[in-house]
Amino acid sequence: MKVMVVGGGGREHAIIKKLKESKKITELFALPGNGGIAADATCVDIGAKDIDKITAWAVENKIDFAVVAPDDPLVLGCVDALNAKGIPCFGPKANAAIIEGSKIFSKNLMKKYNIPTAAYEVFDDMDKALAYLETAPIPTVIKADGLALGKGVVIAETREAAKDAVRSMMADKVFGDSGSKIVIEEFLTGPEVSVLAFTDAKTVIPMVSSMDHKRALDGDNGLNTGGMGTVAPNPYYTKEIADECMKTIFEPTIAAMNAEGRPFTGCLYFGLMLTPNGPKVIEYNCRFGDPETQVVLPLLESDLFEIMQAIAEGKLAEADVRFADKNACCVIMASKGYPSAYEKGFEITVDADFAAELYVAGATLKDGKLLTNGGRVLGVTATAPTLEAAIAESYKNVAKVHFDNAYSRSDIGKKALAAKA
Ligand code: AMP
Ligand code: GLY
Repeated sequence: MKVMVVGGGGREHAIIKKLKESKKITELFALPGNGGIAADATCVDIGAKDIDKITAWAVENKIDFAVVAPDDPLVLGCVDALNAKGIPCFGPKANAAIIEGSKIFSKNLMKKYNIPTAAYEVFDDMDKALAYLETAPIPTVIKADGLALGKGVVIAETREAAKDAVRSMMADKVFGDSGSKIVIEEFLTGPEVSVLAFTDAKTVIPMVSSMDHKRALDGDNGLNTGGMGTVAPNPYYTKEIADECMKTIFEPTIAAMNAEGRPFTGCLYFGLMLTPNGPKVIEYNCRFGDPETQVVLPLLESDLFEIMQAIAEGKLAEADVRFADKNACCVIMASKGYPSAYEKGFEITVDADFAAELYVAGATLKDGKLLTNGGRVLGVTATAPTLEAAIAESYKNVAKVHFDNAYSRSDIGKKALAAKA
């Protein structure tokens, strides 16, 4: 079968490497892919948000199945457009992708269906938001309603910082229209867990849990990034907590979306916080996480493509979904300066004795050389019987990848190890 993957980051590289293991796939394409993905799929120079071109290309090239990985095309209706041409897809339609596309939608959904989440207020008027902040409990959390490249959340430790965040979103429009409406919510505490789940809107099968490291610098300092590294499974996420989440969060969310006439199919990402009052939803994403995918899929033992097909056919209950009883660690190698300004165009070289998975996120091929081309450049994933060994292996192999201005955190997995001790 001819399969295409829409997207071009580390997550898409991990999806593509896993799909390549499937005997059913004869040709694999990435739109647009990147210089590293080019080693594993045929890259086609069409941007992930260009729905019309993606659809026309898929029809012209007789694509049998599409995987739409990033949030933007999902929210923009890429799956709807491909389905309309008779191409089955993995990923939600736009009316379900809104669970990530609008924080106000997702907060209201959780309130209506009693799914545990932080208490919140919604504002479309800046003066009302500022007035509310005069007496709101501090710290508080300010969120832009729409997509903001994972950066639309401000944790404000003081009243002034909270007001500044509101002004920058609503008056200065730092996130464009995404910030014209905002959510101000209760500050929660506790360990964070990412749970990606396969669902066909009838059955929900959580994948192995993971822990992201969102801040740029060691010790969870510095700016929020797309994610600097991940480990799986997440030691805080015990069997008991998993059972509770299934009952209070996962199944109720799938049922709520069905009740709203927005059946969700694909990968639903639950960003959870294990608070003293139980697990609560911090955010939903309508897709695989990045870099969670880079630790979750290497642990998947079954055929990813068969699972995706089963979901598209509404037969997930019959699918074989098994994860290895092992640990994985992904360390992101970024361009120094990320998530602020950074230089790019440096050659990437990998030692011959590199022995891990390399998932390329931001790189381009030029004259046969792989050059850095993004903030997050690549991820190095190792799997091992213990978390300790996975972390050590991952870092050992990070040392075998070279480019100027490379930066990675040195403490990925440290918190998880401490939790296990
Ligand atoms: P998000 O973009 O929604 O994932 O938020 C980014 C990060 O902000 C999360 O990973 C949390 O660490 C933090 N965060 C979001 N909402 C809250 C909240 N209500 N309380 C405490 N921290 C939060
Ligand atoms: N790693 C967080 C996300 O994919 O949104």
